[in-house]
Amino acid sequence: MTTGSWWAAALAESVDASRPLAVVCNGEALVLFRDASGAACALEDRCPHRRVPLALGKVTPKGLQCGYHGWTFDGKTGACTAIPNLSADERVPPRYGARSYRVAEASGFIHVWLGDGEPDDARLPGSLYHPQGEEHTGASIVNVAAHEYLDAMLDGPDCLVSFDGVRITDFFLGDARTGDGWLTVDRGAVWKTRMLPPAFVTDHPLIVRTSVSLAGGAALVGLLDADETPLVTVFVASSANRRGTTSLCWRGFRHDARVASAPLRWQIARATGRAPFTVREQIDGAALAALLVAPSRDLAAARTAIRAPIASIA
Ligand code: FES
Repeated sequence: MTTGSWWAAALAESVDASRPLAVVCNGEALVLFRDASGAACALEDRCPHRRVPLALGKVTPKGLQCGYHGWTFDGKTGACTAIPNLSADERVPPRYGARSYRVAEASGFIHVWLGDGEPDDARLPGSLYHPQGEEHTGASIVNVAAHEYLDAMLDGPDCLVSFDGVRITDFFLGDARTGDGWLTVDRGAVWKTRMLPPAFVTDHPLIVRTSVSLAGGAALVGLLDADETPLVTVFVASSANRRGTTSLCWRGFRHDARVASAPLRWQIARATGRAPFTVREQIDGAALAALLVAPSRDLAAARTAIRAPIASIA
């Protein structure tokens, strides 16, 4: 039985062969780097010799070298490939390996398989994200627990993400729906203008569509016009870090669609290439606490349903 999952642990461009990158993904301390072939690798961020973080070491042609006593570990297998001062007739014992993880690079993310079972490469979280324009990316650690972060993405996405010149309303456009392992909810949104629209708006020229993976960890947030033409797409990968915090990395882009009704601010931002969205790195705790629990209830129910055993047919 497979109990593991793929997690998008880092932006592909933040992992290179010049230095190791320490990340915490779903509570596990990992070190990411690229080996001599350019392949992304993930090891447990703990040297099997004296438990020093391997991220303090350096990347060499033979693998990742621990910064303390210089043992070197192969990125794919975790096998210890070199120990300084070993005589020519001594071999490195096989048990001296570091724990290694399966890695898949897709959609600009480094995915790591955490848990048991055989990885299903068709279920990579980033597989729904297909950039079609200049991307804007980032990574951060936010002061909110990981499950609360995803719940808030459904119950009040404006606490976590904003679109340039757009006000996300509390008005749901239909019920939450599930499909292909995601729960999706639509909200009405309006352009911010100098003449602020009333708090209660019935005509929404924009839609904010939020999809959260039932497997956890990923959210896709889209800004669409009233005809459901996509304007901006943002993919946010999240997972538990330490002490109730959440690791984030994200990529997003503006679609090529022109919007006649958009305010001048939007048109200027488009012309200058300014990022059309912000993933908030400082989250307003009071606003988060005030959110009504709504679609996140559906998320909890959908997750329970997929975990429930299938009744046998008599
Ligand atoms: S602690 Fe890593 S080689 Fe000794």
